[in-house]
Amino acid sequence: MRPIISVQDLTKTYEGGFTALKNINLDIHEGEIFGLLGPNGAGKTTLISIICGIVNPGEGSVTVDGFDIIRNYRETRARIGLVPQELTTDAFETVWHTVSFTRGLFGKPSNPAHIEKVLKALSLWDKKDSKIVTLSGGMKRRVLIAKALSHEPEILFLDEPTAGVDVELREDMWNVVRELRSSGVTIILTTHYIEEAEQMADRIGVINNGEIIVVEEKKELMRKLGIKQLTLDLQTALKKVPPALKKHNLELTGDGMHLVYTYDTMAERTGITALLNDVGKAGIKFKDIHTRQSSLQDIFVTLVKRSS
Ligand SMILES: Nc1ncnc2c1ncn2[C@@H]1O[C@H](COP(=O)(O)OP(=O)(O)OP(=O)(O)O)[C@@H](O)[C@H]1O
Ligand SMILES: [Mg+2]
Repeated sequence: MRPIISVQDLTKTYEGGFTALKNINLDIHEGEIFGLLGPNGAGKTTLISIICGIVNPGEGSVTVDGFDIIRNYRETRARIGLVPQELTTDAFETVWHTVSFTRGLFGKPSNPAHIEKVLKALSLWDKKDSKIVTLSGGMKRRVLIAKALSHEPEILFLDEPTAGVDVELREDMWNVVRELRSSGVTIILTTHYIEEAEQMADRIGVINNGEIIVVEEKKELMRKLGIKQLTLDLQTALKKVPPALKKHNLELTGDGMHLVYTYDTMAERTGITALLNDVGKAGIKFKDIHTRQSSLQDIFVTLVKRSS
């Protein structure tokens, strides 16, 4: 797949000497949804802001659709829609005006039908004549999304788009994102809600302390780092793990009613057969058995701990 964004050896040191990005190399594939995850201060917004031409890159290079972000700023910026993390809107404009005006800034001819479609998709249609200052925080965020989509970008950046928004807006937004993706738009999103990345992204990049620590297909990442747990719900409580079962990686939980076995899905043998044999021999009876795969949340915590 052709990279639509290519970041090469990017290092960013802010005035004052703080290095927010350290030698970042990253390709974003055309048409994918890329989830950028990382703790507060990791460098997500810095990276996005550089690609969008808002922050100076420092060392290294970034190309968007083959164009250099510095030398060909207009070409690259015209392809990008950005929903910024911070709320920034012109308070006294109406919703309709500010969204149509943004489209004009990118040199696109006016297209009321497109603006109408965007406002409707974001449930902003009945607010189109309202001044932005009169809107709630969540509605202002909808306006930012509408602005980012006003010029029909090929690439959409969503920087923590769901921070502080209600369930309804999240639903609206994810529907818009899905529709954009199916029309070929490349989407890069940062979020603290890991379930969202888990649900939406095709690939995941994890950034910590200004360094990309992993970039992987979401499924592959979850498979590689996925730990599974098998839980036996017991018929009668145990006081401790019986000596005959000591060799297995077991934990007793829930007042002695559950035996939890943790295993690595990548290991050659899971050890389940041996475990169940030994459980039977020890005369332990169970009512039910179930397994749980670690979530992206668990994986993320593991990765960030490992890298810092
Ligand atoms: N203009 C600036 N001048 C100096 N340092 C900055 C500036 N902007 C950001 N930083 C620092 O760079 C680091 C990365 O910040 P950035 O906003 O990129 O993080 P982030 O991953 O987006 O975090 P969050 O999840 O909180 O949004 C932080 O330590 C931050 O304090
Ligand atoms: Mg940020």
